[in-house]
Amino acid sequence: MLDIAFAKPALPKSGALVLLLEEGAAATAPTGALLAAADEATGGAIGRALAAAEFKGKRGQIATILAPGAGLSRVVAVGLGKLDGIAARQLEDAGGQAAAALAREAAASISAVGLSGQQAGHVAMGLALRSYRFDRYRTTEKPEDKPKLAKATVLTAELPKARDAWADLKAVAEGVFLSRDLVSEPANVLNPAEMAERCRKLTALGLKVEVFGPKEMTKLGFGALMGVAMGSANEPRMVVMTWNGASAGGKGKAKPAAKPLAFIGKGVTFDTGGISIKPAGGMEDMKWDMGGAGTVIGLMAALAGRKAKVDVIGLVGLVENMPSGTAQRPGDVVKSYSGQTIEVINTDAEGRLVLADVLWYCQQKYDPRFMIDLATLTGAMIVALGHEYAGFFANDDTLAQQLHAAGETTGEKVWRMPLGEAYDKQIKSDIADMKNVGGRPGGAITAAQFIQRFVNGKPWVHMDVAGTVWSGKDSPTVPKGATAFGVRLLDQMVAEHYEG
Ligand code: BES
Ligand code: MN
Ligand code: ZN
Repeated sequence: MLDIAFAKPALPKSGALVLLLEEGAAATAPTGALLAAADEATGGAIGRALAAAEFKGKRGQIATILAPGAGLSRVVAVGLGKLDGIAARQLEDAGGQAAAALAREAAASISAVGLSGQQAGHVAMGLALRSYRFDRYRTTEKPEDKPKLAKATVLTAELPKARDAWADLKAVAEGVFLSRDLVSEPANVLNPAEMAERCRKLTALGLKVEVFGPKEMTKLGFGALMGVAMGSANEPRMVVMTWNGASAGGKGKAKPAAKPLAFIGKGVTFDTGGISIKPAGGMEDMKWDMGGAGTVIGLMAALAGRKAKVDVIGLVGLVENMPSGTAQRPGDVVKSYSGQTIEVINTDAEGRLVLADVLWYCQQKYDPRFMIDLATLTGAMIVALGHEYAGFFANDDTLAQQLHAAGETTGEKVWRMPLGEAYDKQIKSDIADMKNVGGRPGGAITAAQFIQRFVNGKPWVHMDVAGTVWSGKDSPTVPKGATAFGVRLLDQMVAEHYEG
């Protein structure tokens, strides 16, 4: 994690300076104390350079000036657009853009006119989120080729407020990083057992972590999950993480225990498709088929890290979907933990089988206030929404609204998709209570319809994050690769509606 500090606005004597500038307030008529001071100290070089770059301060606009004088190695101007009513997310984006422009600098100061403490925290968040990098397996990269930025100082007059805001945001950033690390790991390293071990480490944050192995899950009757697992030499796990922030251990006074919130993740550490094997092209992507679980784990770390005043449980079903002599076959019938039987037409529709048992266990054991599951469930979801929005399905309008609003706030955008009995006929089986695929039409919807049969009427949301857990391109706060999509979204939803 980038080392973040806060300081009162002052012109740095050396290193890089980032100026976050309002639209219209830059270039020709330098305003703002630091811009004016820097411009004066460099004999007008900064004003001239910004004018030459036609820098207007439009949102997203960026200009870099190298060695302008006064000991500065680099001045980066980032446009904020109009400051009036600027959203936290826009400040994070500006921080993220700055981080990308600062890769060659070891240290930098970041300033904007009149940045409040809270706003400074969000600039810091953007800087941190963008400077994430997964380089554990690069052994020959030369030090000079690595990004150098190690320390960023955000300038604000409201130091204590900024430090408070950053303390909570930093915990969320750490959850995001944990999630990105898990999703980035290759499947030969991150198998179900290893993933469960990484969950166990969260006890250091005050989470209770319980791990179930194949014996326990077989005994419970997890026939759907175990059917997926049986083709792999790597044993499955289910992990239950508990955070009692409202009833014990939170910041505030202990409250009488309310029902916990529950988050459930699909954790297929590698999805070959099983006997219904996938084509070779792009199969390596299926290392991130545990992204739903990765988000749940990152979210639990974030909530515990900022000592959220709420009781939450996170459950992840961890399996590897492999073809082998012990793998399940198309046409097999399995009995799920709920008692409902499933004809496995296609062994590649494995995520819903895993979720079926974990969701049923969750509602039986914990009677949660609601359940939100996350899964890289269908290619059909990507066809429908591409990579910009995650699709979600809900049997509860309040939850749907809260989730949608949190998406707008955090920029992790979600779009509601329909559920409906009319889709049920697509998953009728001739031999069992249902089959695990419903054909091509509405493939993401029939998957959701399947999962709904295991929520037992509890308020529930299913998020299909197939298109959003991994990104092929850099964006302001998300470098390409694992995104941790959902950690910030769900943290925001919890913070806004379920704490205190
Ligand atoms: N993990 C995949 C879904 C997926 C595919 C996510 C591509 C991201 C990119 C899932 O297990 C799967 O294989 N789904 C099948 C379902 C089908 C057999 C009904 C799919 O979407 O093709
Ligand atoms: Mn699959
Ligand atoms: Zn899958």
